[in-house]
Amino acid sequence: MASTSTSSKADELPQTIRDAVLVKTVKSSDLTTTVQGYDFNRGVDYEALLQTYLYSGFQATNFGLAVEEIKKMIELREVPLTTDKEDIYEDDIFIKRRSNCTVFLGYTSNMVSCGVRDTIRYLVQNKMVYQVFYYSILESQVDAIVTTAGGVEEDLIKCLAPTYIGDFNLDGRTLREQGINRIGNLLVPNDNYCKFETWVMPILDSMLKEQKEKGILWTPSKVIARLGEEINNTDSIYYWASKNHIPVFSPALTDGSLGDMMFVHSYRNPGLIVDIISDLRRLNSMAVKAVHTGMIIIGGGVVKHHICNANLMRNGADFSVFINTASEYDGSDSGARPDEAISWGKIRKDAKPVKVYAEASLVFPLLIAQTFAKAHSKSAAAKTL
Ligand SMILES: NC(=O)c1ccc[n+]([C@@H]2O[C@H](COP(=O)([O-])OP(=O)(O)OC[C@H]3O[C@@H](n4cnc5c(N)ncnc54)[C@H](O)[C@@H]3O)[C@@H](O)[C@H]2O)c1
Repeated sequence: MASTSTSSKADELPQTIRDAVLVKTVKSSDLTTTVQGYDFNRGVDYEALLQTYLYSGFQATNFGLAVEEIKKMIELREVPLTTDKEDIYEDDIFIKRRSNCTVFLGYTSNMVSCGVRDTIRYLVQNKMVYQVFYYSILESQVDAIVTTAGGVEEDLIKCLAPTYIGDFNLDGRTLREQGINRIGNLLVPNDNYCKFETWVMPILDSMLKEQKEKGILWTPSKVIARLGEEINNTDSIYYWASKNHIPVFSPALTDGSLGDMMFVHSYRNPGLIVDIISDLRRLNSMAVKAVHTGMIIIGGGVVKHHICNANLMRNGADFSVFINTASEYDGSDSGARPDEAISWGKIRKDAKPVKVYAEASLVFPLLIAQTFAKAHSKSAAAKTL
């Protein structure tokens, strides 16, 4: 008997371990949503697959949350502006308040180099059709764009000559000898930039003439609208942005091929002035007078901060979706999580912003498929304008 009782004591789990490992779960509101992935026994149904992302965990869940956040922006845009919110005193048609939620879209240059350009063009091209009593009202899907110089010129250059799929591993020295430029696994022949020069130089000449003769003060957004008109090509983001009066801001417009052209032009035909402060007023005014704002920002750097900073002027954006690959450990603005922007007043304290850590060429078209593209096709008598 004595030996049995000794062995059972030795077999007993010490209380300290029991306390450490078998901690009792308390009731928590955090434990409401179950993890569940897609069951391919249902067949290949992309719509159902994407809907399960919200419940899958990790970045799939963040994708699902981003879909919800953008849907909130769209829902507010569907509510007609009340008479007191109509922007009747604004003369600038590009920045006039259009809806209950002003949407700022930002993207880095490489998004235009790759196929995401066509998703962006779709967004800028198509208008939602809203029914207000007996009237159908057409409204753009986004209200303002911020991009970098490459994000402007790559779109225009694609109208002149194609960009090609290459390989990340192609040798730089060999490519240089062949007059081919590499952007990741994309290739842009140097001839494309020569075609761009031939196309853009006479436009810069005309702009300088108008500056001298008509006193026009050019700003990056006015230059981009003009280039969009001149390219006159329905494949172009900026053709549609100019046609649909969506301002495109690019405070660092000279940091790309367009800047190279402006540099050369400053020798050939000097005097063109591009004012960035007037554009800052335009962008910040849009944020200040917005009823609500939504930010959809692909990538980091200038495009991310410029939109967030404009939203500081109104004590923060109401809705935010960031998609980027950057992390916060280096203190960069690119990597900063939305919570950091809340500390600066760039996102509202009560907002539920989402950051999707992902390479955007994979994610952004899917995000638009689940949000704007669906809403557009459902909107009454949707049609391409
Ligand atoms: N095609 C080009 O990329 C190109 C062409 C001409 C000029 N430039 C110039 O280079 C400068 C720097 O470019 P930039 O400011 O547009 O951005 P960038 O390329 O420096 O990217 C900024 C950050 O955005 C994030 N990011 C970039 N690509 C991403 C992706 N595919 N998915 C998720 N996150 C991503 C990363 O965190 C990155 O650090 C600009 O002045 C631009 O005009 C670029």
